[in-house]
Amino acid sequence: MSHYHIKSEKQYQEAYLESVKNPEEFWAQIAENFQWTKKWDTVLNFDFSKPEINWFQGAKLNITENCIDRHLFERANKTALLFEPNDPSEEAAHITYQQLHDRVCQLANVLKDKGIKKGDRVCLYLPMVPELAISVLACARIGAIHTVVFAGFSASALAARILDCDCKLVVTSDGAFRGSKTIDLKSIVDNALKNCPNVKTVLVVKRVHSEISLTENRDLWLQPLLDKAEKTCTPEVMDAEDPLFILYTSGSTGKPKGMVHTTAGYMVYSAFTFKNVFQYEEEDVYWCTADIGWITGHSYIVYGPLANGATSVMFEGVPSYPDYGRFWDIVQKHKVNQFYTAPTAIRALAKEGATWPSTYDLSSLKVLGTVGEPINDEAWHWYDEHIGKGTCPIVDTWWQTENGGILITSLPGITKQIPTFATLPMPGIQPCLMDENGEEINTTEASGGLCIKFPWPSIARTIWGNHDRYRDTYFSAYKNKYFTGDGALRNAEGLYRITGRVDDVIIVSGHNLGTAPIEDAIDEHLKVSESAIVGFPHDIKGNALYGYVTLVNSLSTSSETETNQLKKEINDLISAKIGPIAKLDKIQFTEGLPKTRSGKIMRRILRKIASNETNNLGDISTLLNPEVVEKIIEERL
Ligand code: WTA
Repeated sequence: MSHYHIKSEKQYQEAYLESVKNPEEFWAQIAENFQWTKKWDTVLNFDFSKPEINWFQGAKLNITENCIDRHLFERANKTALLFEPNDPSEEAAHITYQQLHDRVCQLANVLKDKGIKKGDRVCLYLPMVPELAISVLACARIGAIHTVVFAGFSASALAARILDCDCKLVVTSDGAFRGSKTIDLKSIVDNALKNCPNVKTVLVVKRVHSEISLTENRDLWLQPLLDKAEKTCTPEVMDAEDPLFILYTSGSTGKPKGMVHTTAGYMVYSAFTFKNVFQYEEEDVYWCTADIGWITGHSYIVYGPLANGATSVMFEGVPSYPDYGRFWDIVQKHKVNQFYTAPTAIRALAKEGATWPSTYDLSSLKVLGTVGEPINDEAWHWYDEHIGKGTCPIVDTWWQTENGGILITSLPGITKQIPTFATLPMPGIQPCLMDENGEEINTTEASGGLCIKFPWPSIARTIWGNHDRYRDTYFSAYKNKYFTGDGALRNAEGLYRITGRVDDVIIVSGHNLGTAPIEDAIDEHLKVSESAIVGFPHDIKGNALYGYVTLVNSLSTSSETETNQLKKEINDLISAKIGPIAKLDKIQFTEGLPKTRSGKIMRRILRKIASNETNNLGDISTLLNPEVVEKIIEERL
C-alpha cells in the first residue's frame, strides 16, 4: 500500500511506524510517485558526525519534469499559478500548466543563451510576480542553482549574498508594487552590483513601467529576449544530490548562512508534506501568503504544490491594501480551499476587527495553516472563529529553512489539534528533547532543546562554502542529532508545543533575525561604542527589537532632538545594511552593558529588562559591572 496520501489517523500511525522501522523502504515507496530518468541505487547513506547525508543516490531526474511536464497529459489547461496582483482592479492571471511549461522553457533558453550552465548560481531579486516562480523553475530546468533574495533586503545584504555564492546573473525588475508604494528595486541592484564584478548579466522584468537606467553590456529587458526564445528546453538531467538552490537564513552570529538544498530529497519531501498537510484534492485552489523569498514560498508556493499538479495562488500585495479585507476578498474571489499564513498576519488583521472577514464569503475554505513562529492562543482562536468559522482544521506547521519542509504539524481533520501545539511529527521525523546535561529526556511529558534524531529527505546538506559551520551549528551541540535551536515541550500525550528560540535568533513578524549582524551594523556608527539587541513581546510582530546602545567616550546625547536624530541614524544604518525588517522599535542609550567577568554581554538580563520582568533578574552580583543594571532598569523605555 502506498503511504503517499494519508487519509485517516490509522493510516498516519501506520505510515509513521513504518517510517521509523524501515525508513528506506518507506521513502522508496513515497519516491515511486515521481518521475525519474533513472531510479536510485541506495535510498539513504548518512553520517551525522561529518555530517554527510545522501538520499536516493544514483538517481537521475529533473524537478521541473515532475512539477510541470508530467502534468501536461492530464492537466495542460489546469491553472498552475494563479497570480493576484497588488492592485485589485488589475485582472488576475491564470497561468496553465502548458503556459507555465512554455514560459519556463523560454526563460531557461534565455539563461542558457547568457552562458548560464549547470551548477552556476543565479540570484533572483524580484517582487511576487509570476516571473519569480518562472525564474526559479527555469534555473532548475537547466540545473543552475537559484538563490532567491527577498526583495525587502538592502543593497548591502543583497551584495553579501551574491558574493557569498558567486552569482553570475541576476534577475530583477524595474520596481515592485507593495500596497500604495512603489519600490525601486533596480537601483538597489545597481548599488549592490558596484561590489559584485562577477555578475555579467542583469535581466530586468518590466513591472511598474518606471524610468530606470540600464547599464550597457550588462542590463537587458527580459521580455524581448523571451519573445524570441523557443518554448521547449530539454531538461538537464540532474543527480539526486545535485544542489537545487541556496537560500540564506540568519544565524545567531556572523554572516547569513547559505543553506544548500539538493534535488531529489527536497522534491520528494516538499511534495509529500504538501499533499498531506493540506489534504490537497484535484479541484482545489490553494493559497500560501508567504513570499517566495522565504523557504515557505519555495516549498509551499512553488515546488510542493506544482509537484502535486495543484493550483497555487501567488499574491503580489499586502494584507492591508487597499483595505484590511484584501485577504478575504481574494479567498472569496478565487474560492480558496486551503489558506496558509503567518501568526503575525493573523494578529495584524485581528486587530482591525472581525467585521472585515465577516463581509466576505469564506465558505470555500477547508484547511487553515500557520507557520513562522509560535501562534498565541488569542490569535489561534480568532483565526478559528472568524476565518474558519469553527469548521476548518488549523495546521500549526513547525519547520525551518534548514529543513526544506514541514516537520511537526497536525494533519487536518485527521490527527488531533490543540491550539498553540504543532502536535505530531510527520512520517520520517524523529524528534526528541534534550536536557541541560545533553541527555535525551525519556519521559513523555518533558521540555527541553528540540533535536531530530534521524535524517529526512529534505534536510539541508551543507552551508554553501562553509561545511564546518554547518557541522558546528547543527550537529555539535548533541552527538548524532540535528539541533534545531528551538525549545519545545511535550505533553502527556506526546504532542509537541514549540516554545521559541533558545539562541540569539529573534523572530520578528515571522522573519528570523540574528542579533549579531544587527549589532555589527549599529556598531559602525561613529558615535557608537557597543550595542546589544534583544527581543521583547509585541502584540502584532510577536517579538520586536530592543537595542541597548553605549556611545563612545561616554558621550551622552544632550537634547531630545539629538537623541532622536541619533536613533534615526542608527535605524537608517540597519535599514541600509540589512533591510527595514531589522529596524529597532526601541533604542535605549546606556552608560554600559552588563557583562560577565569574561566580558560576555549578559543578554538574559537585558531580555528581562526589555520585557519588564525586572523582579526576577537572578543573581547579578557576579557581574563585572552590576551597578549598570539598576541604571538601565531606571531608564527603561
Ligand atoms: C520558528 C520558517 C513555532 C521556529 C518555515 C523555527 C515556529 C524558525 C513555527 C524557523 C511554528 C516556524 N511554531 N515556531 N509553527 N514555524 N517557527 O527558517 O523558531 O524562517 O526555528 O522557517 O521559526 O524559521 P524559518
